[in-house]
Order: sequence, then C-alpha cells, then structure tokens
Amino acid sequence: MLSWDEFNQEETPTPVTEPKIEQPPVISEVVQEALKPALDSKMGSVPTAADTNTGTKKQVSGGTANSSALQKAISDLQSLNITDGVEELEGSANRVKVDDKRMINCRADLNQLVPFKYDWAWQKYLDGCANHWMPQEVNMNADIALWKNPNGLTEDERLIVKRNLGFFATADSLVANNLVLAIYRLVTNPECRQYILRQAFEEAIHTHAYQYCIESLAMDEGEIFNMYHEIPSVAKKASWGLKYTKSLSDPTFNTGTVETDQELLKNLIAFYCCLEGIFFYCGFTQILSMGRRNKMTGTSEQFQYILRDESMHLNFGIDMINQIKLENPQLWTDSMKEQAMQMILQATQLEIEYARDTMPRGVLGMNAAMMEEYLQFIANRRLVQIGLPEQFDSVSNPFPWMSEIMDLRKEKNFFETRVIEYQTGGALTWD
Ligand SMILES: [Fe+2]
Ligand SMILES: [Fe+2]
Repeated sequence: MLSWDEFNQEETPTPVTEPKIEQPPVISEVVQEALKPALDSKMGSVPTAADTNTGTKKQVSGGTANSSALQKAISDLQSLNITDGVEELEGSANRVKVDDKRMINCRADLNQLVPFKYDWAWQKYLDGCANHWMPQEVNMNADIALWKNPNGLTEDERLIVKRNLGFFATADSLVANNLVLAIYRLVTNPECRQYILRQAFEEAIHTHAYQYCIESLAMDEGEIFNMYHEIPSVAKKASWGLKYTKSLSDPTFNTGTVETDQELLKNLIAFYCCLEGIFFYCGFTQILSMGRRNKMTGTSEQFQYILRDESMHLNFGIDMINQIKLENPQLWTDSMKEQAMQMILQATQLEIEYARDTMPRGVLGMNAAMMEEYLQFIANRRLVQIGLPEQFDSVSNPFPWMSEIMDLRKEKNFFETRVIEYQTGGALTWD
C-alpha cells in the first residue's frame, strides 16, 4: 500500500567515501548549455572541448554512474538533431493558427492542442471527464439475489438480460477497437483526438461494467462472451460493424482522395450513427424498463450510466460527421447520401430483428412491434441529424421515458446513488 508518510520521509544520503576522479567526457558547448541543470546536479562542472584543448582539468564530484555509459549517453545527445522526425511524426512543426486546423487531412502540427478551433469537442472532453464513474461503485446485491431466486424473473426476462450482456460485452470492445485502430490516426485534429481518447477509456469502462455484471451474476462467461458469433441476431450486428473497421484498419490506408475520405465518413456513420446510435437502443430500452419495474436495478443502473456516456459519444460523432461535410462538401455527393441512408436503414432492420429475437412475446410492458416503431423513430432522428430526410412516416416515440433518461439535465444526481466515495487525484492532500 502506498503511503504519503513514506513519501515525506527525508531520504538518507548514501555515504560516499572518496569521490572518484574520472576523466570527464568532452561535450560541445551548445549541448552543455542545454543539459546544464541536469549535468551540474550529476557531475559538478563539466569541461568543454575548449577546456580540454587548453589542458584545463576540472574535478568531477559525487555520482556513481558508470562513466562509459554516461559518456555514451552524452555523446549520443551531441549528435541529436532536434528537427529529426518531427515532420514525419505529425504534420508541420510550425506554430499552429486556428485557420490551419482541419478535421481530416490537416497539415498542421497535431501535437499542439491550442488554439482551439472546435470548442464543441473540447467541451465534450471536459463533460466526459466530469461524468467519470466506475462499475464497482454500483451495488449489485439485489440483482444477485433476484438472479439466484428461481422465481425471481421469468424466462423471457432472463433471455433479455443474457442476450444484452452478450451483445454489449463485445460491442463496446468493437467500438473501442475501431476508435484506436481505425479512426484516431485519420482524424487530424488534436481537440477531437482528446475526446476520442476519453471515449476510448469510457468504452473500456463499459466493457468492464458488462464483465462486472456477468461475474456478479455468476453467468457462464463462455456462453455470454461468444454470443457475438454464436447467436445470429447478435452476430449479424457485430459483423455488420466489423466490415467498416476492416477497411480502415489496414496500416497502408490513408485519406486524401474523395474515395478514401468517403470511406472514413462511412466508418464514422457506421459506428456513431448506426452502432452506438441504433444497435444499442433495443437493449438499453429493455434493461432500463426492467429497472423501472424494480428488477435488476444494479444492472439497470450500470446501463443508465453507459447510456449517458453513449448519448455524448453519439453527439460527438454527429458533430464530427457534419464538420467534415462542411469542410469537404465534395464528399457529400448524391451517391454518398444514398449510401449513408442505406446504412441507417440496414442498421434499423438488424435492430428490429434483434428486438424480435429477444422478445418473442410481450414482456416488461413492451413488445417487438412497439420496439419496431421506436427504432423507426430513432432512425428518422439519425437521418435528420446528418442532413438526410426522414424515411418513416407517422411514427412516434412509444417510450418517452427513454428521452427523459437521456436528457442530462433531468437525470438524477449521479453522486446520490454511489456506494463508495470516488476521490480524484486533485482531491488528495499533501499533509
Ligand atoms: Fe460504450
Ligand atoms: Fe460509445
């Protein structure tokens, strides 16, 4: 266990008998200037080439470093070219102006976070951090008792819990992989990357949350984690998303042409609008409906926190897609619009199939037909959010309570339901 007491203890200096006198290394004056603070503390004064040439010798005091190793380190630093690699690493190394920044194919230095251009991305990063939570903070005791009780849940309700944990346990991992293996490299804006890194961590927390539920309920882990390739309604959704990762995760893939930029846009639509924006909605509605009926309240609470994160992921993705369209109008062709619409319609259809598979009968005050209308309502929203016309006439939201849960301002206070105190690094004291 770490303790601040140990940290605050004064270090006992190692006794030094006789300071060793060694032949000091020769070092150029420029490098010596740059390294002065470090070298002074380690070696005392170091002779320059000029000193050596004139025969001046200075004594080195203190330190126990292997002199030949240190000499090699210093000599390697002498030949260091500070401009090497910077341009290849991330665009031009010049100072960045706001107007240089672009969502994709940006030539400016991507290691300079400021000046901000896309405030919405930075704000979402801050909001995401402010909503931090961990799965172990949710009390799972009531769920464990209910799951173990043979009369606690109906078979239809058990099917819903298992299918959803099975789908989500791997779906969030697919999303995380897509972020880090496909999207991150190609989105050339530091504030968006900052949010993508936050999102990637949130996806890890979500996968952790599902694992935590599966472990708490002592479910068959092999059965649950393999559903995404063993149960057709789950497998179809996973493989539909995977093909969009595959096209971009090839390390030789790069944006820069209309075709490749459109490929990236399709990936963003597939993951943000379809996977996170449609494929999650049947399962979220089912589990949250269970919680509203006072069943599996811990699992439901985990899903509620996940849904809050997911709404932000979705909104970030929509902003990113629209910003790319705005900066690159040549990408948003009629053919691209048609493909985007087809993707959203296909995803809706797959989610309707999933609803039928997970709800063979009416359960929890809902049925597959109601879910179908809800998904068509959601699909209309996704279409409009990226500037496409609605495709389903006269559909309304049969589950208005879902919108209330997603509305961040109306949600219950997160901290009221926490079972343990969460302490951030900033809250630690030094005494
Ligand atoms: Fe997630
Ligand atoms: Fe997500």
